[in-house]
Amino acid sequence: MSAMHAELATGPTIKLPPPRSTGGLPLMEAFGQRKSSRKFSTRSLELQDLADIFWAGFGLSRPHLGTGINSPGSHTAPTAHNWQEIDIFAAMAGGLYLYDPADNELRGLLQEGIRRFPGNPMQPFVLDAPVILIYVADLERMDDAGDWDKSVFPWADTAVIAENVYLACASLGLATVVRALFDRPALSMAMQLRDTQLVTFSQPLGYPG
Ligand SMILES: Cc1cc2nc3c(=O)[nH]c(=O)nc-3n(C[C@H](O)[C@H](O)[C@H](O)COP(=O)(O)O)c2cc1C
Repeated sequence: MSAMHAELATGPTIKLPPPRSTGGLPLMEAFGQRKSSRKFSTRSLELQDLADIFWAGFGLSRPHLGTGINSPGSHTAPTAHNWQEIDIFAAMAGGLYLYDPADNELRGLLQEGIRRFPGNPMQPFVLDAPVILIYVADLERMDDAGDWDKSVFPWADTAVIAENVYLACASLGLATVVRALFDRPALSMAMQLRDTQLVTFSQPLGYPG
């Protein structure tokens, strides 16, 4: 667990099993199956499916030798300048969790219900999903970034992660949709984020309803 988030931890940690490296759909079939779905079963996700999704999104696929343009990348998704500024949070029945790729675990942060905040009255299906991913950029990690970099790259870096999650969902037979339509200030406040943390997109997922 990075020291940056350790002080926030208040809930229990969920240890994830290693991601499966075999099985699933062939990649070209997964592209063919990728789609946005807005009907979710409320059934909890199997831990193995959860582990595979997080790893596909932004897991470690190579040794982690640091961040920044002078270090080689280490994750399943690229980031501009190798800033690795995107954190994946998950709002689940047990509260809010933060994915830690290095320790392959979900660190419990807040136990109050924040699931309604990444939702939207016009899109009530979000609340059916057992897992609501929330992508947050930590702008402090973007060393030497100018204002333009900070306004553009968090969104781009989230988008590539979200597509990985889409493809993993297609392969595992899960429903998902990336979402931009929610009240960011309210969600940021509920998550107790710092001013330098930017919520980009959200992505509910679960078994198809
Ligand atoms: C940046 C972005 C934001 C989106 N925001 C929403 C959203 O707030 N709500 C929603 O239902 N779908 C949202 N979508 C999903 C699109 O509506 C969907 O991708 C599009 O209709 C094409 O369908 P497909 O993903 O099945 O190909 C978003 C997609 C992207 C890429």
